[in-house]
Amino acid sequence: TGRVDVDALLRRMTLEEKIGQLSVLADSIRPFAFDVNPDSFQWGPERTREMIRAGQVGALFNGVGAAEGRELQRIAVEESRLGIPLLLGADVIHGMRTVFPIPLGESASFEPELAERTARAAAIEATREGLHWTFAPVVDVARDQRWGRVAETSGEDTYLSCEFARARVRGFQGPDLTADDSLLATLKHFAAYGAVGAGLDYNAVDLAPQTLHEVHLPPFKAAIEAGALTVMSSFNDINGVPATANRELLTGVLRDQWGFEGFVVSDYTSDFELIAHGYAADERQAAELSLNAGLDMSMQSGIFMDHLGALVEQGRVGVAAIDAAARRILDVKARMGLFENPYRSLNPAPPGPTPYLAAHDALAREAARRSVVMLKNQGELLPLRKSGQRIALIGPFARDRENLAGCWNIFGDASREIDLETGLRAALADPQSLQVVEGCGIEESLEGGIEAAVAAARQAEAVLLALGEPSVYSGEAQSRTQIVLPPAQQALAEAVIATGTPVVVLLRSGRALALSPALQSADAILATWFLGTQTGHAVADLVFGDHSPSARLPVSFPRDAGQQPYYYNHPSTGRPYTPEGLQAFRTRWREVDHSALYPFGHGLTYTRFDYGPVELDPAGLAWDGQLTVRARIANVGTRSGEEVVQLYVRDRIASRVRPIRELKRFQKIALAPGEGRVVEFTLDRSDLEFRSVDNRPIAEPGRFDVWIAPSATAGIAVSFELHPA
Ligand code: IFM
Repeated sequence: TGRVDVDALLRRMTLEEKIGQLSVLADSIRPFAFDVNPDSFQWGPERTREMIRAGQVGALFNGVGAAEGRELQRIAVEESRLGIPLLLGADVIHGMRTVFPIPLGESASFEPELAERTARAAAIEATREGLHWTFAPVVDVARDQRWGRVAETSGEDTYLSCEFARARVRGFQGPDLTADDSLLATLKHFAAYGAVGAGLDYNAVDLAPQTLHEVHLPPFKAAIEAGALTVMSSFNDINGVPATANRELLTGVLRDQWGFEGFVVSDYTSDFELIAHGYAADERQAAELSLNAGLDMSMQSGIFMDHLGALVEQGRVGVAAIDAAARRILDVKARMGLFENPYRSLNPAPPGPTPYLAAHDALAREAARRSVVMLKNQGELLPLRKSGQRIALIGPFARDRENLAGCWNIFGDASREIDLETGLRAALADPQSLQVVEGCGIEESLEGGIEAAVAAARQAEAVLLALGEPSVYSGEAQSRTQIVLPPAQQALAEAVIATGTPVVVLLRSGRALALSPALQSADAILATWFLGTQTGHAVADLVFGDHSPSARLPVSFPRDAGQQPYYYNHPSTGRPYTPEGLQAFRTRWREVDHSALYPFGHGLTYTRFDYGPVELDPAGLAWDGQLTVRARIANVGTRSGEEVVQLYVRDRIASRVRPIRELKRFQKIALAPGEGRVVEFTLDRSDLEFRSVDNRPIAEPGRFDVWIAPSATAGIAVSFELHPA
């Protein structure tokens, strides 16, 4: 292929040059426009240039700019002894300049191909600005909504997470890793970061090995199969062993079991943090433990560059282990074509508007629209009319421009963002007919705010109530004890809803929230997450019925904040919750019914669908056979609409207690009024596998229930037998 011979290159490298490849440092030369902690830059611009020249560093991160990046690459390629190109990475999580919905929101679309398209667009923008590598996608499964990073995930379900993980890798990387616009993907955070105790970020993960393998690892495996070549080790420990020094995971699972050929990068100083974990006595031991566990690249701590040389001298780290790590990193650089084309992505774009931006705005609007979940629409309040209806837009997010993008958006072009007021006015026949009142701040009440809001609500025929969380409630180190709205907003909601004017809640959040009784009683609720650049236009598209809502919940909305962690696919207890009958001595809470207010998979649209009975062909599943499961879905309303048809299974009797339901397939279909379609899925034995008592993948013959349903709690099951071999 003409690709550089990595082994030959390794033979020419000094130990110091090899170790140089094993670190990625925060880019102090091209820092992104963000409130960066100055402590991040232990190595200032001059020192960084020297290190590149001396072959002491192989990668930089979170800098931006093609022209300066080109100069850095020139130093690496032309002034360092061996001319090994740099790898330039950054957190491009849900868009670069054009911001797409937060990953959780986008996953609500149940359209992995949509995520593939937005990831592709993000890659096109990012590579034009001097980047090769993104620290995305987040493929952690998040079952506790208190965790601040739920927003970055695909939600609570493993199957859905796998589908989105694959799609995002395909999107970022594109079909050809050597293309100028291919952005190398990173799977993070390996592993089980989403399972931190009590949703508290960085907290210990105490997890059955079977749950680790059944729930948290599959999205990593799926995305590696889709071509991902880098994995980030997580901050947390798993059953007492920090992920960054976890040989069982980094070597045993990743390399030995899955055959992963790429490299592992630590999360920011997570190798150094082995000391605070009480797992390493000092930096040297932390470097030894992580390298020997299978960590290839140290992010920002500097402990590899400072200690690996001495560790080799002392015989505590083998040269072969250093070679293996350097080989993996160089091999990824080679697969990206960086040796042949080191200046790819580093040709400064001409100034002025770029042709792709308009196309990406259209995609951002489509993605935003397709991420909004209509939770409730009593009396068919929505869609509203564009004329002849007095509408009030009330709430702290009505005009807000600070909280459109959501967390982990460091490069977004805020000047192009469309807030709610702007988007809604643009859609109205008479833009001035919309009355806008804030009513309160995001966290604080405003003098006279509620009175003004109530007056506006009384004069209106419909209220759009824009409430929710600000961006900073989500993301790293943003765990919450109470997943509720700030009290000032709850007071506003109560007062506005009490006027009796029909209310549509536009709910902004980075997680599922527990809604207060007043909010629950609103006539309509749209879960709008953080929608990005095109927020206002996308919401207007749905509110006025130019498009119909088509998303479904990727996380369960609980009835009460205390119901956490909460996820639909929990194992059955010995005294299962039942909605009917006597509740005493059942799995229940005193205060609220033990069910979701809105379950995983739930979402409404402007029409209704009927589900016909589930049919099986054949009646049972032979050990090596296939089973077709089908049902007829009909649009019985008066408008066109899209439905996410979901297939769930339950293993009735097994050698380990199994979840009450598990998503195994879904399909999003569009139906015209009166139209019906048979939706068909194929299952085989692998869909029924789980981890045994001794943590091996097994399937057991026996009876299974299967549903084709519009949510995780709806539908009528039929059952089939998995026949023995
Ligand atoms: O990629 C991130 C990670 O998700 C959290 N810690 C910092 C990294 C680099 O910015």
